Amino acid sequence: MEVIVAPGKVAACEIAARRIADTVREYPAAVLGLATGGTMVRVYRELVRLHRNKGLDFGGVTTFNLDEYIGLEPQSPHSYHTFMREHLFDQIDIDRNNTNIPDGMSPDICGSCAAYEKAIADAGGIDLQVLGLGANGHIGFNEPGSPLDSRTRMAVLTDETARDNARFFDGDETRVPRECITMGVSSIFEAKKILLVAYGEKKAAVVAAAVKGTVSVRVPASVLQKHSSATVVLDEAAASTIYRQNIKPI
Ligand code: GLP
Repeated sequence: MEVIVAPGKVAACEIAARRIADTVREYPAAVLGLATGGTMVRVYRELVRLHRNKGLDFGGVTTFNLDEYIGLEPQSPHSYHTFMREHLFDQIDIDRNNTNIPDGMSPDICGSCAAYEKAIADAGGIDLQVLGLGANGHIGFNEPGSPLDSRTRMAVLTDETARDNARFFDGDETRVPRECITMGVSSIFEAKKILLVAYGEKKAAVVAAAVKGTVSVRVPASVLQKHSSATVVLDEAAASTIYRQNIKPI
């Protein structure tokens, strides 16, 4: 696992965006796995800047998002469909037909999860999977306890995640849907490369558990330690517990 520590959150997001841009430049038909959440807002802002100012071309790129809430229309201001349109897709030259987000309104959730997995496989698999990190170690919406061999499926948010994500629902935790569709831990792990981004002191303990702790379903992100090409980009605050753990007592 490669761990990069940037001097601040802006620098961390710039490094992450540059990694994504490198993949797109190297493989103009790249398949990207994309994430949502506050961390990604800055990463996508930088990608948009690279598109506008540096000609980064998304015309041949295909994307698969990690997750979506069940019961939210794609047009809902709170859906991840809307998040992706606002923060990325509306601002770059990607072909909308090549963007994929789980369908939280499907009348056949199981069937649509299986179809999502098939679509990823048909696209040749994910070249680069971008991840944020939940405060409890979740990746996508794979909460602690998610089986390491899990695939795209319906899952249930923990109280902690619902509380964390209330900021995207006008601060009202009761409005956060508790059910979601998420790519599984195994679906994520199959990506050729993985790029996890985390910043801020609030993530420091869980970052240390993910990067240095025992690989366990209790911290789903810890599985990335076993991946052959996983990079973690942090700011100094998010890396602070790792640093502290390295300090040997006198
Ligand atoms: C949500 C998403 C996760 C994301 C997490 C982190 O729960 N489902 O994929 O990693 O938020 O969010 P933030 O970047 O806002 O800390």
